[in-house]
Amino acid sequence: MRIIITESYEQMGVEAANIVAGQIYLKPDSVLGLATGSTPVSMYQRLAAVHKSVGLDFSQVTTFNLDEYIGMSPDNPQSYHYFMQENFFRHINIRPENVFLPDGMADDMVAEGERYEKLIASRGGIDLQVLGIGQNAHIGFNEPDVKFAATTHKVELDEETIQANSRFFNSVSDVPRYAISMGIKTIMMAEHVILLANGRNKAEAVYKAVCGDVTPEAPASILQLHRDVAIILDKQAASLLPSAIRGVQITVK
Ligand code: F6R
Repeated sequence: MRIIITESYEQMGVEAANIVAGQIYLKPDSVLGLATGSTPVSMYQRLAAVHKSVGLDFSQVTTFNLDEYIGMSPDNPQSYHYFMQENFFRHINIRPENVFLPDGMADDMVAEGERYEKLIASRGGIDLQVLGIGQNAHIGFNEPDVKFAATTHKVELDEETIQANSRFFNSVSDVPRYAISMGIKTIMMAEHVILLANGRNKAEAVYKAVCGDVTPEAPASILQLHRDVAIILDKQAASLLPSAIRGVQITVK
């Protein structure tokens, strides 16, 4: 595990975008795992800017998003399909047929989970997975639990997640109660993982992910067992971390 601590949210996005861009330069047909939410927006903006300025080429890239709300169609402005179009895909030259998100409208979520896993496998697996982290240390929508869920599955969102995500909706009662999310195994199978976090409200979750016990009560803690993970933080999200952590390389930008 390595940790990069940056001065600001924008800088966090730049560092993350550099890693994603490096991946695409090295392997133009990379398979990326992507996240929604506020955290990766500065990374998406930077990647779109690099695409525009120096032609970073997404034409052979495939993407798989982590999750989608159940009951939300892609044209619903609060769906993650819509979020990704608005914040990223419409600004780059990715091919629509190479973009995948779980289908929140599927009738059978077990079958949809299996379909999604097969799709990921058929594209050769995920090269680089981008993650945010919930205040409860969730990754994807893998909420704190008594065991790590393995593959793409239906989840009931935690009250804390519903409250946190209500900022995107008119009222808390409008936030969907269920989502479909990649599982912990799906995430852990990725060759490389980057986890981004910004803001003081993520500091406890980041501490648990990096320094806490590996436990399904703090799903992000599983990343301590991944062979190649970079945690990219602004200084508020890093504020509870000790200055040295055994086995972890810390770079302060
Ligand atoms: C989003 C996702 C979630 C978010 C997390 C943080 O696709 O899987 O795990 O990354 O809830 O959300 P923000 O970035 O809005 O604080």
